[in-house]
Amino acid sequence: MDQETISLLDDKETSSAKKTRPSYSLFKIAVLIALTYICFLETVRFAVTYETLQPTRHHNTPYSPASSAIEYSNTKIWQEGDYSKFEREPSPELDALWNEILTGQNVRITEDEMKLQGENTSNRAELEDGGYLGLMSVWHSLHCLDVLRRNINMDYYWALIPEEERGRGLWTKEHSNHCIERLRSDVMCHPNIAVYIPKWVENGHHPDGMAMRSNGETECVNWNALDQWARKRALAHGKYKLKPRPYARKKNKD
Ligand SMILES: *[C@@H]1O[C@H](CO)[C@@H](O)[C@H](O)[C@H]1NC(C)=O
Repeated sequence: MDQETISLLDDKETSSAKKTRPSYSLFKIAVLIALTYICFLETVRFAVTYETLQPTRHHNTPYSPASSAIEYSNTKIWQEGDYSKFEREPSPELDALWNEILTGQNVRITEDEMKLQGENTSNRAELEDGGYLGLMSVWHSLHCLDVLRRNINMDYYWALIPEEERGRGLWTKEHSNHCIERLRSDVMCHPNIAVYIPKWVENGHHPDGMAMRSNGETECVNWNALDQWARKRALAHGKYKLKPRPYARKKNKD
């Protein structure tokens, strides 16, 4: 009985030892293959990620207090049945749409953000309850578009401008030309390089009978996310107070 058990055990041991040796080296080979495969996959993944990131990668993206609010997605530059609610005659409804867009125009910028952007804090418009007055460049441009469209439609807006403001400030050719320059700079700085392919149409509003069509896409910032960022620190017109300016205002200077 004892003898048998021993021999049985022996037998088991030898047979399992025989089986273990080749399967152990098979295991090593399998691990090697797996590691090589993982290395290969990682290389491919890195290459693909790098390739995808390349066009959107910005070299040394400069600091902005709103940097964290920026998200990108691709959008077609033209869609079938495209009709903008902004493309209409001047009206209280259109003014309300523009006022909505301009809500985030003036925002509070903190002292830390001023430093991070490399600003000099002396002689800057400082808010009574902390921070500084800031205007994001995109809102400067939007303000310019709003003022330009009002100037172009002066037959409608003239009556709405207080008499003492007519022909001054925002309602001058100088200001309009400044705005055109602001917008020219913006458009050329962030060129939308998707291509329109003009199509022959019977009732197009182009004199040559073409209409702009495109399947091209452009990379757009998520406007809602940026707008929400600005709205949270927006300074509503007439609802914020600045610390007094350090010197008296000279005429014809700003
Ligand atoms: C900040 O502005 C003030 C006043 O204009 C000037 O005297 C000072 O040198 C400036 N500081 C820096 C760091 O540029």
